[in-house]
Amino acid sequence: MALLIDGKEISKQIKDELKQKAAELKSKGVEVTLAVIQVGDDPASSVYVRNKKKGCEYVGIGSLSYELPGETTQEELLGLIRELNGRRDVNGILVQLPLPEHIDEDTVIRTIDPAKDVDGFHPQSVGALCIGQPGFVSCTPAGIIQLLKRSGVEIEGKECVILGRSNIVGKPMALLMLRENATVTIAHSRTKNLKEVTGRADILIAAVGKPKMVTRDYVKKGAVVIDVGINRDENNKLCGDVDFADVEPVCSAITPVPGGVGPMTIAMLLNNCIESAGL
Ligand code: GUN
Repeated sequence: MALLIDGKEISKQIKDELKQKAAELKSKGVEVTLAVIQVGDDPASSVYVRNKKKGCEYVGIGSLSYELPGETTQEELLGLIRELNGRRDVNGILVQLPLPEHIDEDTVIRTIDPAKDVDGFHPQSVGALCIGQPGFVSCTPAGIIQLLKRSGVEIEGKECVILGRSNIVGKPMALLMLRENATVTIAHSRTKNLKEVTGRADILIAAVGKPKMVTRDYVKKGAVVIDVGINRDENNKLCGDVDFADVEPVCSAITPVPGGVGPMTIAMLLNNCIESAGL
């Protein structure tokens, strides 16, 4: 039986550590505050935003909530971000994505002060990660490193294959695994002989957004499999990019969906908020 990597449990450990850090900061007179901005009322975004605010409450971080109508102009949004950039009582700024079509995501991300970029999406944060300098790291890949380390999975010298090349997960994930001294391959939709490539992985990370795409013929026996996908299957049931029932018997460790990578994203966001306040 494969080890089930429990993201709920590990994220709770991290949140409890952060709670202590937040209390320490408070005792020194430092309050940590995250500003969360949502534009429009996309139901999935509303759930994520609610969970982020709940996470703040649990850890003892203040949250300011800006729920703006879908018709908000780009200039209005940029104006709010600039105001929050200038506020000394705000440590972190998070603009929930996706944004309505009339707003340019890239311009919005670039307007956030990199010192408050707790999502780690600003080009300066991404650049810093790339050349090994300090800066905020995108929360989902940072959470995966914690999942591996806290489950006792050795990374150094291992073959790591990442399936997917998004700016939020695939690319920063590759940089983080490289920083941990793994040998890293990024595979994607144009990769030739995909199963042969993924079949070399000691650690396989699936982040493609295709329900149950990764079956056991993609996986080396004894590999560690991390599933970043959150999809709906043919019965509208939540599922990952990995066909769990098919892969679990051949791998040595695996994350479930839900309860694997998902809860780690918020834990790392809260970690970035505490970091932004200087601990
Ligand atoms: N939308 C989906 N995931 C994320 C995330 O991690 N951060 C933000 N800001 N928006 C998202």
